[in-house]
Amino acid sequence: LMSISDLTAAEFTKLVLNASAHKAAVKAALGAGEAPPLTVQGALAGRTVAMMFSKRSTRTRVSTEAAVAMLGGHPMFLGKDDIQLGVNESLYDTSVVISSMTSCMVARVGPHSDVANLAAHSSVPVINALSDDFHPLQTIADFQTIHEAFTSARAGASSLGLEGLKVAWVGDSNNVLFDLATACVKMGVDISVASPTGYGIPDVMKRVILAAGTGITRPGKLMETTVPEEAVKDADVLVTDTWVSMGQEAEAQKRLQSFAGFQITNELAARGGAKPGWKFMHCLPRHAEEVSDEVFYGPKSLVFGEAENRLWAAVSALEGFVVNKGKIL
Ligand code: CP
Ligand code: NVA
Repeated sequence: LMSISDLTAAEFTKLVLNASAHKAAVKAALGAGEAPPLTVQGALAGRTVAMMFSKRSTRTRVSTEAAVAMLGGHPMFLGKDDIQLGVNESLYDTSVVISSMTSCMVARVGPHSDVANLAAHSSVPVINALSDDFHPLQTIADFQTIHEAFTSARAGASSLGLEGLKVAWVGDSNNVLFDLATACVKMGVDISVASPTGYGIPDVMKRVILAAGTGITRPGKLMETTVPEEAVKDADVLVTDTWVSMGQEAEAQKRLQSFAGFQITNELAARGGAKPGWKFMHCLPRHAEEVSDEVFYGPKSLVFGEAENRLWAAVSALEGFVVNKGKIL
């Protein structure tokens, strides 16, 4: 799983619905003082998942380790000082060796080509745990969160029922956005992106996002602007992320200046005309400049449920790609 583009609309839908089903079943069992259901328990028994992280992580690390443990496997965390991930050893050698001893590699890298190279030479499934270009596990959790907030009551068992919803992304065009936008196009969700001039979606990425609409009856529309108010007009969900992603620290000062006026606030939502029931999402970690405390900790915020859903997204992805070997059932 390198990016959401790897998935058909049906596969993506199933991963999201499976995440929700596992959440409900495991929580019900634990709440009743019982063991997690057998579909989860033991599915990865005797298997090791290598977690190769060259960048910091709270949610991706904890959710993946917890998910592997929940499925009965052994998560092996390998930080950037633990192994020779592209340092002192080629990615080819690393991939061949680690995949010969484990059942899956979950990798967080800088350049997307690093995780793609690992996948190209691996004999086991590789899951992208965030690269400079994509963050598919986040997108699965985000759609689970949107589905819970907007449609889970009326959706049929095999569809998310989100067509026509509008997401407004206000902030940097980054890895989290690229997979989120791809999923929006695939799921018929319109997405409007407001970024300052010079920080919009690169053309190559736009082609990736729009290609997600191929063969979809009602693909989501992608709109772009440099005016935050235009993006939030009639939006159901307002989303942002940090203005300074990992690896961009040297540009921090310049970025903070360029993004002035792009903070998500209640005033921006009102001025721009977001829908009255709008919700706020953020993949976290959050910094105060991109969203006000009032929104982030307020009643419209879904952020902590969204973070928890990372666990269920990880369970679903491991089940789909490792237990079921890429057959998303
Ligand atoms: N959202 C997310 O991926 O968070 P971490 O960087 O803490 O894993
Ligand atoms: N865009 C952020 C996401 C972190 C989860 C980054 O790449 O640092």
